[in-house]
Amino acid sequence: MENIIKVVGVGPGGPDYLTAAGAAAIQQAEVVVGGRRLLDQFARPEQETYALAANLDAAIEFIQQNYKHKRLVVLVSGDTGIYSFAATLAEKLSPNCLEFIPGISSVQLMFARLKSPWQDAVVLSRHGREDHRLVGMVKAGITVAVLTDAKNSPQALAKEVLANGCHNLPVSVGCNLSCANETIFRGTLAALAESNQKFENCVVVIGA
Ligand SMILES: C[S@@+](CC[C@H](N)C(=O)[O-])C[C@H]1O[C@@H](n2cnc3c(N)ncnc32)[C@H](O)[C@@H]1O
Repeated sequence: MENIIKVVGVGPGGPDYLTAAGAAAIQQAEVVVGGRRLLDQFARPEQETYALAANLDAAIEFIQQNYKHKRLVVLVSGDTGIYSFAATLAEKLSPNCLEFIPGISSVQLMFARLKSPWQDAVVLSRHGREDHRLVGMVKAGITVAVLTDAKNSPQALAKEVLANGCHNLPVSVGCNLSCANETIFRGTLAALAESNQKFENCVVVIGA
């Protein structure tokens, strides 16, 4: 039988948050594809690796050339279903050659840290992209979780929603969740906008 490409959501970073199914797939792999940070953390020295970089077409070509005769896994952070390379693979490759092994999302862990249900929340990404739905959703009273980057920092997002007439709502920022350097900020949008704290690798939750 032909191999399939296993796409593993490895969770938010801490080893305890990798599922048993994900760990087994990585353990059995001959080739591991993923971002450098994930390869350093999860691939073993004897496994062949391919580091994902800006050229995703080259990565897809590598995967296509290798998966049929080698057991290959692709690592993505968090869950496969939330703003990950898994979506690109599903778009470009046949579903018959893919298996997704879900992981614990940074968003899921953030709501667990807040001890807050999130079945009605909306997840947006401002990580390397713009998404102009944020203000409208906050104004509509929807709890919104936002993935961030250096440009769309927690402070920038707080300033953006306040400048567009949103109330001074509660806001939380979870950084490096599940990792040794995890931090959680809890306050209001105004306090966040004025904060000098450096937030990296974080999820912002507005309205919970
Ligand atoms: C490309 S997205 C991937 C999201 C991932 N698929 C998930 O389910 O968490 C990367 C963004 O996720 C968030 N993120 C990933 N790991 C995180 C962590 N351990 N703590 C807080 N936020 C994290 C950050 O906003 C980061 O910029």
